[in-house]
Amino acid sequence: MLCSPWRSDFPALAILEAQGQTYLDSAATAQKPQALIESLTGYYTSGTANVHRAQHQAAERATRAFENARLKVAHWLNARSPTEILFTHGATEALNLLAYGLEHLLQPDDEIVISALEHHANLLPWQQLAQRRGAKLVVLPLDKDGLIDLESASRLIGSRTRLLAVSQLSNVLGAWQPLTPLLSLAKTQGALTIVDGAQGVVHGRHDMQALACDFYVFSGHKLYGPEGVGVLYGRDESLLKLKHWQFGGEMVRIAEYQHAEFHAAPLGFEAGTPAIGAVIGLGATLDYLSRQDATAVAAHEQKLHSQLLSGLSAYSGLRLLGKPTIALACFTIDGVHHGDLAHLLTEQGIAVRSGSHCAQPLMKTLGIDGAIRVSLGLYNDGGDLQRFFSAMDRALELLQ
Ligand SMILES: Cc1ncc(COP(=O)(O)O)c(C=O)c1O
Repeated sequence: MLCSPWRSDFPALAILEAQGQTYLDSAATAQKPQALIESLTGYYTSGTANVHRAQHQAAERATRAFENARLKVAHWLNARSPTEILFTHGATEALNLLAYGLEHLLQPDDEIVISALEHHANLLPWQQLAQRRGAKLVVLPLDKDGLIDLESASRLIGSRTRLLAVSQLSNVLGAWQPLTPLLSLAKTQGALTIVDGAQGVVHGRHDMQALACDFYVFSGHKLYGPEGVGVLYGRDESLLKLKHWQFGGEMVRIAEYQHAEFHAAPLGFEAGTPAIGAVIGLGATLDYLSRQDATAVAAHEQKLHSQLLSGLSAYSGLRLLGKPTIALACFTIDGVHHGDLAHLLTEQGIAVRSGSHCAQPLMKTLGIDGAIRVSLGLYNDGGDLQRFFSAMDRALELLQ
């Protein structure tokens, strides 16, 4: 049976297991390693202080730890400099920041290109921006495997395209999107490129210099880190194009009653008190992840992926959405409502997600109103899968 050497690093797993719970919803949010818990406890017990303001020792310590976390994120993403890392409260806020910060670049009839598989977080900010500016939202269709269709993209990304915003890895279809050709199509047209890395960042390391997008966003909580912190990576020269969007303390250089001048990125885009503990905790989580053998983690996740898919293939009437390449699967079963199945799985202690997964337009495109999603993290093991499949068998016996 497949074991996870990382399981014991996540204390919640043992507690959940003792309560008869099996956690298979990591794409929604991941459980947290002890290293993060210790970092948060350390920060909150050693005396909190606000960052970038006071001169006292606690403030200096907090500012140092905060800026050190920025360095760790920059290193994790292979950014050229920590000035390319902005802290937000999550991927959603980072995408909204971009939609407001880039608004001034759009004229009526300009085009913003997204894809048919986007999470609401990477659809609605662009839809609303298009409406504010009289611009057009262009949606790239998917091919039969659930990948953004490159042939259509080469027709639809054109001289009116100002922005391309696409997911690296779909939270529904679980497949890596063809980012390199998409980004190069957009670049050829002089468009800015935005990558939603909320799911992609969890699987492997991604080199921003190699990816060469203008902006990349993710949330800490899906990457085994804390809630309330997200990252907006932007190339230094791309960040210069952003207009400030939230105003208040610390983002301002000179404030007068009728006039103000603002800091450049990153500080100019971190108005107010940031989530200091969460930022420091994200740094500690990256330290923890950096200490793990990345090849072993990837191999473990691949085993989870193949055991999950081969187990699911045994069910008659099961329709898998797309062709997942990570340990995530969304599916429907003929004649069974996803809500009923999720209910019976929940009753047996299996935590999966059911519904539209914040991708209502994608569900409509696929001709369904929802699906079950099973998503695993590095701490899941063969026992979790065995409990899931036994629960599926019992639930389907009742429902079919
Ligand atoms: C692909 C994708 N993008 C964006 C988000 C939004 O992340 P958050 O809710 O942490 O801001 C999610 C969350 O599920 C996601 O899966």
